[in-house]
Amino acid sequence: MVIGWLRRTLPSSLAGQLALGTALLLLVGVGSLVAWTGLRLQRAIVEQAEHHLETQAFLLSSALSGHVERITQAQAREEVSALVALYAQGLKARVVLLDRSLQPLARSDEHEEEEHRERERPKGPQPATQELVSALAGTEQHAIRPDPETGKPYLFVASPVLSRGEVRAVLQLGMPMAPVYAEIRRTWTALLASGGVVLLAGLALSVAMARYIARPLAQITRTANAMAQGDLSRRARPAGPKETRQLAQAFNQMADQVQETLARQEAFAVGSAHELRTPLTAIRLRLEMLQEHGLRDPSLTARYIPEVLREVEHLQRLVDHLLELARLRRGQTPPRVPQDLAPLLYEEAEHMAPLMERAGIVFQVEVPPHLPSVVANADEMRVVVRNLLDNALKNTPPGGTVTLEARPQNGWVAIAVRDTGKGIAPQHLPHVFEPFYRAEDERGRRGAGLGLALVKEITTSMGGQVSLDSTPGHGTTVTLRLPATGGWQHSPA
Ligand SMILES: Nc1ncnc2c1ncn2[C@@H]1O[C@H](COP(=O)(O)OP(=O)(O)O)[C@@H](O)[C@H]1O
Ligand SMILES: [Mg+2]
Repeated sequence: MVIGWLRRTLPSSLAGQLALGTALLLLVGVGSLVAWTGLRLQRAIVEQAEHHLETQAFLLSSALSGHVERITQAQAREEVSALVALYAQGLKARVVLLDRSLQPLARSDEHEEEEHRERERPKGPQPATQELVSALAGTEQHAIRPDPETGKPYLFVASPVLSRGEVRAVLQLGMPMAPVYAEIRRTWTALLASGGVVLLAGLALSVAMARYIARPLAQITRTANAMAQGDLSRRARPAGPKETRQLAQAFNQMADQVQETLARQEAFAVGSAHELRTPLTAIRLRLEMLQEHGLRDPSLTARYIPEVLREVEHLQRLVDHLLELARLRRGQTPPRVPQDLAPLLYEEAEHMAPLMERAGIVFQVEVPPHLPSVVANADEMRVVVRNLLDNALKNTPPGGTVTLEARPQNGWVAIAVRDTGKGIAPQHLPHVFEPFYRAEDERGRRGAGLGLALVKEITTSMGGQVSLDSTPGHGTTVTLRLPATGGWQHSPA
């Protein structure tokens, strides 16, 4: 309940909380420091006044000790009175000399006008106050109490006047405490003022610090809100201490990544739509022709139906590739098992051989009967090898050579498709693995530009690597390196 109340009442902002915390801390710290110092100084000031008056009392009583023996003589009495008056003037204190029965022998205010006194001075012996009693016993003593004449606080010091080891008289010094108290007040004022200054300065500093931290955070929040509302180009400005600067940088990196991913996805969607449109248009044109003239001219059917079927096949492949790419990008992979890829490579080569021959290309297969096993999915591997051989076939003129080779290579299995075709111009090289990227028109044979993208996606998702080497006019080699499991999977021969 209390916590709930505090949560509702206390400031919720970082700046407010920091300022409040610092203020409380400073208040306690500075407050106790000021109180401790003030009390110490106050005691020291009082003690200094006491010490001062005691010293003076001692000096004067020593000076008087020679005179008290002869105090009954008129001359000595005058000398004593003069000494007493002189000291009183110098000390700005009241000085009274008392005999052993506390009857005054001499006093500094003897000549003071009666009307100046607020109260009647009592006649006869002085009351035996504590310090007088102890001075009679031979010990100097002090006390602070209201002056019986003025009612104001006074510091009294009583000192024995000794002569030949005996207490002959008692000297009493009285000093008003008002100046001492005034000094104490001044000290407290100065201390409290400096404490207040420290408090205010600390508070200002903590507010500034809190702003320094909170402002960049608020700015990052605003940026995030703007991005959430669709302005993806917004970025946070790194400011404040290291941590907030790092936060802004991390935020910006994330924003870059999000923007890039979205752009890639958009490009992918647009590319897909484009690729689908071409075969769809072709199919539609042919179907329209058939609808209009097909009944009258059956030869049209014979011509267009295979073409439509080819387009549909193309569409099918395209959609398969798109789905496969999307699946791999989402991190979904088909089941993969350790296997010897050599038989699969032979099968694909056999499938391609007639097409190569028809294109007038020399097709070489340099694959050992067995390869170290690789964790792979056979369908995926077929897609990969078929795409590479298809690219080589499309881009190699009659009379050229295409080679499919595979070999173990310290912990890897390297599979390469080499051709002596037209190669790829250097400006296209960095892009050939991007979806929908086609370097050149390939004599009527249409590809969607997805083949190499798929090859790369599959290979990397298997923990492997793809590299492409190409010299325009001389040929191209695409090499896959797939991690071998370290064992051999012998298929029954
Ligand atoms: N063996 C090769 N020789 C020359 N160019 C190639 C070769 N393989 C790929 N390319 C170029 O890279 C581009 C991308 O290849 P790919 O992704 O398989 O798309 P597609 O084959 O559908 O055009 C091709 O359009 C082609 O220009
Ligand atoms: Mg291709």
